[in-house]
Amino acid sequence: MNLTFLSSIVTSAKAEIQVIKSWIPFFARMTIALLSLTTLSAEHVSIPAKQNWSFNKLTGTFDRGAMQRGFQVYRQVCSACHSIKLISFRHLKALGLTDAEIKVLASQYQIKDGPNDSGEMFERPGRPSDYFPSPYANDKQARAANNGASPVDQSLIVKARQHGADYVFALLTGFKENPNFQLSPGQYYNEFFPGHAISMAPPLSEGLVTYNDGTKATVEQMARDVTTFLAWASEPEMEQRKRLGLKVLMYLLVMTGLFYVTMRRIWKGVK
Ligand code: HEC
Repeated sequence: MNLTFLSSIVTSAKAEIQVIKSWIPFFARMTIALLSLTTLSAEHVSIPAKQNWSFNKLTGTFDRGAMQRGFQVYRQVCSACHSIKLISFRHLKALGLTDAEIKVLASQYQIKDGPNDSGEMFERPGRPSDYFPSPYANDKQARAANNGASPVDQSLIVKARQHGADYVFALLTGFKENPNFQLSPGQYYNEFFPGHAISMAPPLSEGLVTYNDGTKATVEQMARDVTTFLAWASEPEMEQRKRLGLKVLMYLLVMTGLFYVTMRRIWKGVK
């Protein structure tokens, strides 16, 4: 065995060690991340049951009836505390509302506008292009009215939480008798809220809304409907996205076939 060969092995081994060393901080971070994940899961949190949502499947769409009922629940119940800032009145066309209905609906809201020529802010009836106004003027006011907790904006809540729609549904139906859990005044026991102590009183109760379409308003029904509405609000373009995705898949499939045939032709004579 000659010396140059040996020294080349040594240099390549050194290079390897260098590479491994450079990965050490990465592995260390990964280990810490994994450890913190296990401690998180050690804290007891119930996993929401999987629901059979119409919008889950590959070609899934939002159930229009459920969305409309869900909007009714949002409007009559949740909007007292939760804003939905990213949704404008005209977005509701997606629920099947006509332009005229949206105009009437918008005009029932007072929208802050201005300043006018004398520099003052003023209120005016809403227009279809306006976004839903927030129930509170600012976060401080929202907290003051809710025992220090801020009712989150609901525009993206379904996307923002692990288990998405399943979690929101489970949360709304997950208020239970307190099993001797330490709760501060103004907190309620919820099986699915991380930490179990939530500063939102159970917002739904049997028959709370009277559905325009005559559906019986059980807690579960309202929770399912409002969750469908919020899932739509979180991703109004989902149906287009899925349609486009399918088209792209079909296109790729056809192209794969064409390319395969072409390849066979080109290589036909070559043994
Ligand atoms: C009386 C005010 C009030 C009403 C009405 C209300 N909420 Fe809440 N909600 C709150 C507050 C306050 C919080 C924050 C709780 C906390 O952080 O402990 C909250 C939190 C939430 C959360 C977030 C939980 C999380 O993971 O952070 C969801 C989801 C939610 N509400 C959904 C709803 C829905 C849907 C409705 C209507 C059916 C509704 N809320 C009605 C006050 C309200």
